[in-house]
Amino acid sequence: MDIPSEDPTSLPTPRRVRLLNREDRLYHVILAQQFDRDIIDHLCRIAEMTRIIGDTRAGARFLNSILSHKRAMLYFIQPSTRTFLSFAAACQILGMPYNDVRDPSTSSEVKGETEDDTVRVLSQYFDIIIMRHPSEGFAETMANKLNGIRRCIPLLNGGSGKDQHPTQALLDIYTLYRCFAPSSVERIRQDPERNLFAGKTIAFVGDLKRGRTVRSLAYLLARYPGVRLLFVAPDELQIGDDILEHLTRNEIEHELKSDLPKTIGECNAVYMTRLQDEHDKDGESRSIDLSRFSLTPELQDQLRPDLAILHPLPRRAELDTCYDSDPRAKYWDQMRNGMWVRAALIAHVFNVDGQILDHYYSHFNY
Ligand code: NCD
Repeated sequence: MDIPSEDPTSLPTPRRVRLLNREDRLYHVILAQQFDRDIIDHLCRIAEMTRIIGDTRAGARFLNSILSHKRAMLYFIQPSTRTFLSFAAACQILGMPYNDVRDPSTSSEVKGETEDDTVRVLSQYFDIIIMRHPSEGFAETMANKLNGIRRCIPLLNGGSGKDQHPTQALLDIYTLYRCFAPSSVERIRQDPERNLFAGKTIAFVGDLKRGRTVRSLAYLLARYPGVRLLFVAPDELQIGDDILEHLTRNEIEHELKSDLPKTIGECNAVYMTRLQDEHDKDGESRSIDLSRFSLTPELQDQLRPDLAILHPLPRRAELDTCYDSDPRAKYWDQMRNGMWVRAALIAHVFNVDGQILDHYYSHFNY
């Protein structure tokens, strides 16, 4: 195994990706740049099959057996509701027992144990670590440390500081996939040429500078030539130049905008986000006027009938509750989609996704 002596986060992206993947399979899942079109398409198909299989008693029993010999550690030392619960549910779907650490004050870290040593300890008792951590590069550094130890186990990033949240991006793209290919038959059909996003306009709205879900989803959407991305935010909260450069390099049409009401009419999907004020030094972002970056009741009648409204949640005032029962609201679906696609991802990492595929084709493909 190639073990870098320098900080892995400072290496060129292709080398970082090579250190995290194992041949054509994802192993440590840390960066959205690890996902290409084939793997996104594959995981969406496996998620779709898993939810169909899981709907029957016999199917749920089958799914429950495939990872019952493994154990998961959910190391979530930053607040989380959906990501934590959906990973927990995904483990349960696959029959994999899990334990969690959510408060490091209850672990030996209070006795001075380093976080490095803590991760090594976890690797002795568990077969996979799923981690949410406030520091940007921590999960990647730990994944590379795990590469160097005898009992290497996969590490999945459930949110790393302001940087990335690749599994949220995966559930977001799976949700869009379900919106743009509404029939299950179409979603399961294998078609490497299919590009559901060509000709679609998708707007990201809100705190794009510090929203890690937006950054990761932009990387995934950059895999689809013909998609058009709009970044709708006040100047102070606009998306980072690294993402814009990535889109330019990949010839993805994109534009910065500063007014949601004037932009919404062009969009097939809108991805709302909240103010990420936990990253403020001194509450400075609270004085920013976000009224032109909110889905208000007044806008409801002006939206296209087929608009998909997404939000990773939690929300603040940027998404009025009047949308909650609107059929265009997909944010409730996002949560459930997250459970299925995370189950698909875990199955892929353990190389048992082929069992799900075989089971689907032998039991449900009529
Ligand atoms: C997001 C996160 O943690 O980055 N939430 C989530 O995982 N569903 C978005 C946010 O906190 O704003």
